[in-house]
Amino acid sequence: MILRYFAHAAFQITTNNGTRIVIDPWFDGNPLSPVKARDVSADYIIISHGHGDHCGDAQKIATPETTIVAVSELAGYFKEAGIKTHAMQIGGCHCFPFGRVCLTKAEHGSMTPDGRYAGLAAGIILTIDGKSIYHMGDTGLFGDIKLIKERFDIDYLLIPIGGNYTMSPEDAVLAATWLKPGLVIPMHYNTFPLIKQDPLHFAKLCEAQGILVNVMEPGSEISL
Ligand code: NI
Ligand code: MN
Repeated sequence: MILRYFAHAAFQITTNNGTRIVIDPWFDGNPLSPVKARDVSADYIIISHGHGDHCGDAQKIATPETTIVAVSELAGYFKEAGIKTHAMQIGGCHCFPFGRVCLTKAEHGSMTPDGRYAGLAAGIILTIDGKSIYHMGDTGLFGDIKLIKERFDIDYLLIPIGGNYTMSPEDAVLAATWLKPGLVIPMHYNTFPLIKQDPLHFAKLCEAQGILVNVMEPGSEISL
């Protein structure tokens, strides 16, 4: 399985059997993205919440074969646009042909791209090819992260560190110490001045707690 980072909160997972899963697609407006929407294809698009920096390019990359996975209200928006969708809610899990998707709590807002109610913002926990990947979406620090640890053993934690809209690096270190993942990958920072952070400082703070960090460069990929 391959995990590729496109900067901000956008990732692509290619499973061992070749299924392409894109999380939080935002390329054309993303100043750090090494690719454009036209370069990306997906069998599944999983969206944490409706803000433009998380789903802005979902419609551009969706083909008639693509399924968008999101909370019901946001899925409904894409269904109206004629895209295949699978609606879920926080606390729910579903086994897709590629693996299992669970939606979890995230402390954040949400709305559809045209300004309507989009349900709750979510985190995404994937279990694919025997590994678990937790994309926290946009979220502040919240105590139920400890509850999530009771139900999931996380191998790869994709965690926002930018502050202002999400956790700061210090909050993210605390969340990571609660979840004890195998590897932490920081996201949602340096895309614009308000969320400027030093990911190497974050990595140092994590490593002082015995937590491994990989600061992925936009466009880089790792094997999981
Ligand atoms: Ni957001
Ligand atoms: Mn965001």
